[in-house]
Amino acid sequence: MTKKLFVKTYGCQMNVYDSARMADVLAPLGYAMTDGPEDADMVILNTCHIREKAAEKTFSELGRWRAHKAERGGRMIIAVAGCVAQAEGEEILRRAPFVDIVLGPQTYHRLPEMVAQATRAAQKNGFGGAVLDTEFPLEPKFDHLPEARADGGSAFLSVQEGCDKFCTFCVVPYTRGAEYSRPAAAILDEARKLVAQGVVEISLLGQNVNAWHGEGGHGFGALIRDLAGIDGLERIRYTTSHPRDMEDDLIQVHAEVDKLMPFLHLPVQSGSDRILDAMNRKHDRVFYLKLVERLKAARPDLALSSDFIVGFPGETDADFADTMALVREVGFVNTYSFKYSARPGTPAAAMPNQVPEPVKEARLAELQALLWEQTRQFNEASVGRVMKVLLDRPGRRPGQLVGRSPYMQAVHVDNAGSLLHQVAEVRVLEVHPNSLKAELVTPERMRA
Ligand code: SAH
Ligand code: SF4
Ligand code: F3S
Repeated sequence: MTKKLFVKTYGCQMNVYDSARMADVLAPLGYAMTDGPEDADMVILNTCHIREKAAEKTFSELGRWRAHKAERGGRMIIAVAGCVAQAEGEEILRRAPFVDIVLGPQTYHRLPEMVAQATRAAQKNGFGGAVLDTEFPLEPKFDHLPEARADGGSAFLSVQEGCDKFCTFCVVPYTRGAEYSRPAAAILDEARKLVAQGVVEISLLGQNVNAWHGEGGHGFGALIRDLAGIDGLERIRYTTSHPRDMEDDLIQVHAEVDKLMPFLHLPVQSGSDRILDAMNRKHDRVFYLKLVERLKAARPDLALSSDFIVGFPGETDADFADTMALVREVGFVNTYSFKYSARPGTPAAAMPNQVPEPVKEARLAELQALLWEQTRQFNEASVGRVMKVLLDRPGRRPGQLVGRSPYMQAVHVDNAGSLLHQVAEVRVLEVHPNSLKAELVTPERMRA
């Protein structure tokens, strides 16, 4: 008998990957995906704890789900997963007692047992059954997951989890736990299986993906070379990287491996040495600038993206000016920038000199204006260029497909009907605010 499962995901790509794997774990129990919570037998909210509003979003979403559960006479299992669940599991059960299961990011391979337990508890107690599993088990969850199922031409593949860096603003080391690298053999096996299902692009994921290390000194660069050897795999990406873990060999891989896309997300957070130090980023401004130089020497067409935080405790106008200057010097595309948000339990939350909200807002606006302008100029410069685009979803118009350029730009292509989930060569015609419009250069499938 099929049961309906609805999963809503907040946060980073690791959460998107985890949501897909939770669905894989529940499939043998008869759960198939549905696209709304109203008629679902089970709903999962996969949460993010990175900034303030994230937790509030969790509780307001749960409030809506409570009503759906009541309409179904209580016959709905509500699970809360992810980083808010890990950090505030007890609080969730207290504030939202109608929730049946709270589980952390490292325990979702145990979902079938949790569902059984929650069902029994609900039969006994009525509304809500309260299973809490936010341990960090010694045995990694990856050893217990079923085969990943591909969904389209592009797939995420988690290779690394957790973080030992402890930037003073960040909750990830607490919510995801210690750094862990999956064995190379398991990663290559998952990649081959995805490619056999039609996947042509794999994005390797990790909170600190380039900290990945295999047995016997096998580094992340070597892993990418191994993946590039898989026939039928045309594109490789990885995210998110820490500047400190950008080893020489990995830079070399950018020069050697064509399948590795010329786009790199390399968070810098700030351009001020004083602030970088207070953030415990373990790199300074010059280190970052030199790294960018070496990367661009290896791969001249490389474009860089980044994350920025403005208004970190103690950030002065001069510190912020250093960030603006770094942005002008490097030039970024498709960046993410945030106002500093004090997270309970992190060292920065207890620092003196918290920056007033209006100052944060003004700085963010100024920084974003510059970053948007850089992205706009980059997109503008794409007009007339020929590039390969992975056409991964239907567009609004008949025959139109939407894809991603090597630089993650959204590209709309007309008359491309039969090329869904394939890489095609296109010429860029126009720039729109959030996308490019392009035409096919060759109607046949292009192989990298
Ligand atoms: N592991 C990655 C990023 C993880 S979190 C890295 O090391 O860069 C994603 C981004 O959220 C961070 O890069 C940072 O810019 C932002 N972020 C994390 N904690 C934050 C906080 N307390 N306030 C504002 N932004 C934050
Ligand atoms: Fe957070 Fe820093 Fe670890 Fe990134 S490197 S996940 S920002 S602690
Ligand atoms: Fe959010 Fe957890 Fe990812 S806090 S950004 S979902 S690692």
